[in-house]
Amino acid sequence: MSSNLIELLATEKPQFHLKSLTDEVPMYVEDFFFRKRKTDTKGLPRTSYEIDKNVLNYILSIVKSDFLTLETGCGYSTIIFAASSRKHICVNPDTTSNQLVKDWLQNKGYLCNSLHFVEDSSDRGLATLTLSEPVHVALIDGNHCFPFPIIDWHFIDRFLRVGSKLLVDDTQINSVKILSDFLSTEPSYKKIKQIGRCDVFEKTSDIRVMGWSSQEINKRTWRGFSEQKTSTHSKQFFISQVKKLLPTFLVNYIKKLK
Ligand SMILES: C[S@@+](CC[C@H](N)C(=O)[O-])C[C@H]1O[C@@H](n2cnc3c(N)ncnc32)[C@H](O)[C@@H]1O
Repeated sequence: MSSNLIELLATEKPQFHLKSLTDEVPMYVEDFFFRKRKTDTKGLPRTSYEIDKNVLNYILSIVKSDFLTLETGCGYSTIIFAASSRKHICVNPDTTSNQLVKDWLQNKGYLCNSLHFVEDSSDRGLATLTLSEPVHVALIDGNHCFPFPIIDWHFIDRFLRVGSKLLVDDTQINSVKILSDFLSTEPSYKKIKQIGRCDVFEKTSDIRVMGWSSQEINKRTWRGFSEQKTSTHSKQFFISQVKKLLPTFLVNYIKKLK
């Protein structure tokens, strides 16, 4: 039944998301919700920033009917989570988008009793969220600006147990990639899959390593953004040093050859 929903989404292409950089909203959606938090966006231009279809199929393949699931951001993924789990929690400040998703599902015959919204920016909504049971599958796909993906993970981690799965979408963005790189070093997580721009982790231990010097990320040489810059710089430095050692006539001869 839920696989039909993926096909329906692909053919109908519903537009659930508020559109960035329009005359009506001349800023990024993330900026808009960061400032306004819970907001009714009725009448504003819409689009779809939906997750890849292969990720939707993967979600469908791992979510069981007795699962509790959770995500930041809302859209096509919400539909698949809500239709396949026992209870789904979606953290999204756009109340109009949430209603559109609910309406779409109800229109297809789903009651939506299992779908619960935390209508706030994830940094606030997740911080105060309490759950009496663990989350089986979580997706981080809300505000992609630094440090939101990390904040989302920080609060979601409390709800994940050994065996729970965490999907981190849009790893082509550095502020998301940092989280994925960090989790790849964490002993309490194991990267089990990559679906295009979405990394999937499984929680392997309930103990989060604390004490900065015990964390793997701090034991390694930092190879973040500066890697390319550093290697270019060190290459140029090396060439300049070699040039200093060569006699001038040889340097001039090499220049001529170029
Ligand atoms: C890339 S879209 C999510 C796509 C969705 N997973 C899908 O499959 O259609 C990003 C989502 O993040 C939401 N969002 C923006 N700022 C947010 C914030 N501060 N907290 C939570 N969600 C936010 C947007 O409203 C939007 O629903």
